[in-house]
Amino acid sequence: MTAPTPAEVLQQHLIDPEICIRCNTCEETCPVDAVTHDSRNYVVDPAKCNFCNACLPPCPTGSIDNWRTVLRSEAYTVAEQLEWDELPAPKVLDVPADAAAVDATPASTAAAAPEDVPATHDAVAGSQVPPWSAAHPYVNLYTHRNPVTATVAGNYRVTEPGTDSDTHHIVLDFGATPFPVLEGQSLGILPPGTDEHGRAHHARQYSIASPRDGERPGYNNVSLTVKRVTVDHAGQPVRGVASNYLCDLEKGDTVRVVGPFGASFLMPNHAAANLMMICTGTGSAPMRAMTERRRRRRDRGEGGRLMLFFGARTREELPYFGPLMNLPADFIDINFAFSRTVGEPKRYVQDAMRARADDVAVLLRDANTHIYVCGLKGMEAGVLDALRDIAGTNGIDWPDLHAQMKREGRLHLETY
Ligand code: A2P
Repeated sequence: MTAPTPAEVLQQHLIDPEICIRCNTCEETCPVDAVTHDSRNYVVDPAKCNFCNACLPPCPTGSIDNWRTVLRSEAYTVAEQLEWDELPAPKVLDVPADAAAVDATPASTAAAAPEDVPATHDAVAGSQVPPWSAAHPYVNLYTHRNPVTATVAGNYRVTEPGTDSDTHHIVLDFGATPFPVLEGQSLGILPPGTDEHGRAHHARQYSIASPRDGERPGYNNVSLTVKRVTVDHAGQPVRGVASNYLCDLEKGDTVRVVGPFGASFLMPNHAAANLMMICTGTGSAPMRAMTERRRRRRDRGEGGRLMLFFGARTREELPYFGPLMNLPADFIDINFAFSRTVGEPKRYVQDAMRARADDVAVLLRDANTHIYVCGLKGMEAGVLDALRDIAGTNGIDWPDLHAQMKREGRLHLETY
């Protein structure tokens, strides 16, 4: 008797459009460009996905970790997935088990990943694990199906009036509803109304700018740093749906919130941990949270160093400039980089790092040093180049240290 011809069964990798917050992390992480998106959805091309799973750990929501068993010939196409508002129900396959040849099995649901597939991909420059001393985070307590309602407790502009950068510090209070967060985590805001397809707006992700014990210590509230979006990446006028909604909120208004998100961009908690924080604009939110955590615990002997590199167009457009200037120099080593100050040369955070190369190198040599980078996508390469060069001129093997820091949850990148 001849064996039945195996039907080609595929464990198709899909992204849940209802949960996805369109943060682009999966597309950035995918080493084979299998993830793509339009203005509506992020999707996985079944012809390109090689099941390496590099995209799974960085996804803040878990929306990336969805799978459907389909016949390869009936795999959902990219065009189909782009039309979805929700995942399709699992198909019942009419294939005898012994006749099916499963093309690939996701590591998240299987005992073992395909043997030649690395657990994490080298193309990812930053850590996918938290520091060893990070507290355990809660994630995805609230989704679009059960969002929590928060009340606006305050909304203040934190850039100088009259400048192009209209950046707000927004405090959201959760009342008696649990919303536990750690420094470095983010949340999602569900703006009211519908998009151009008539579908409810998807959640927009914002880093939390306050420490775990609240914007006001002992209160169940968080703060966000939100820049009003008025132009797109190409400089064309556009009205950012969520940022304008948030910046226009008044005290007492309510907001629908999902999350919290993020399980690796978390601060270390051991007393000797050094934090090197590098950010631009609203990328300062997690740095503010971590700095404030350390400031509140200063008298508890948490003695690791804090070094901040913060870039903005001008001093007036740097969020929290005033409060930052009030922090003592023996608590935090602050380095600004202004790119558009009239009469001064353009300066980016990576230039400021090079100017402090000797001190950066001291921190790089210390196994307690944790690096956090948050802000514009473009600065990521510049910052990594600066770290490589500073290491090189100080006799530090950067490829080796880079790999070690990644592995040890000591190099965290969040750019957009
Ligand atoms: P630029 O003046 O060249 O735009 P924004 O205000 O748009 O959020 O930007 C914050 C800061 O980040 C600005 O000073 C901006 O400079 C700077 N920036 C832009 N591109 C890069 C880059 N590739 N590396 C580092 N900083 C950058």
